Amino acid sequence: MTIVRTGLKNDIKMTKNIDHYIKRLDMDRLPAHVAIIMDGNGRWARQRMRERTEGHSEGVHSVNRITRLASDLGVKYLTLYAFSTENWHRPTEEVDALMRLIGWTIRKETPELKANNVHIRLLGDIDRLPEEVRADLQHGVDETAGCTGLTLGLCLSYSARWELTMTVRKLAEAVLNGEIAAAAISEKDIEDRLVTSGIPDPDLLIRTGGEQRISNFLLWQAAYSELYFSPVLWPDFDEECFVSALEEYQKRERRFGKTGDQVKTEQQASGEI
Ligand code: FPP
Repeated sequence: MTIVRTGLKNDIKMTKNIDHYIKRLDMDRLPAHVAIIMDGNGRWARQRMRERTEGHSEGVHSVNRITRLASDLGVKYLTLYAFSTENWHRPTEEVDALMRLIGWTIRKETPELKANNVHIRLLGDIDRLPEEVRADLQHGVDETAGCTGLTLGLCLSYSARWELTMTVRKLAEAVLNGEIAAAAISEKDIEDRLVTSGIPDPDLLIRTGGEQRISNFLLWQAAYSELYFSPVLWPDFDEECFVSALEEYQKRERRFGKTGDQVKTEQQASGEI
């Protein structure tokens, strides 16, 4: 199977045979959900004596190619940390440029996302975004509503502490309304009120750009995610880097608090090994 993408004018062409990647992977053990902290755009630009915002523009190419590859490989959920609640504190020019870039990118890419059966889901305090950007995003959501392939989660004006605060408020209201008894609140009651409700927890959480921290991203959901830190700056993060992360994920033993022996016995019983 050869997939040749031409992309739009400035886009990176993905001309590699997807078999090249598939051969390196155990396709029965792909992560269902990959979440990415896309870091390093500013440094990428500074290293080239360019404006930070040019690093963000370049980062869009990585968004496009990693989304395409994830979709082509059959990953079910890809969640991207595109703008945190803390990012509102950046210089106004950078915030404005990022907002324009996000709206413009989604408007431009929606036809291709739809053609590839990718469903866009917005995760975060979306009401804080400028109206025009919200319109572009909503257009993308509406256009891809019927898509059943990859779910592309865009974390915008998102932070895990914001999300957990909203969730606590919703639960407090449910208790006050008599819908739930405080003593009966379960993990599922919490999960049902997170912005990621209905999306399984990330199996693999990648952070690019060399820093090794979570930065207020999916703190509840990442409880058992495999963490992968790449030194590569986001604009340079390409298909090879993504497949390397998947390969590393496939070497890990996920025990979820159990012993290695228990995990092996369960895998043998289910015919996994
Ligand atoms: C972090 O790098 C990156 C961001 C704050 C923005 C990421 C946004 C994009 C790549 C555009 C996404 C667009 C869509 C439509 C999803 P940084 O600026 O903190 O880098 P630095 O650590 O090198 O300064």
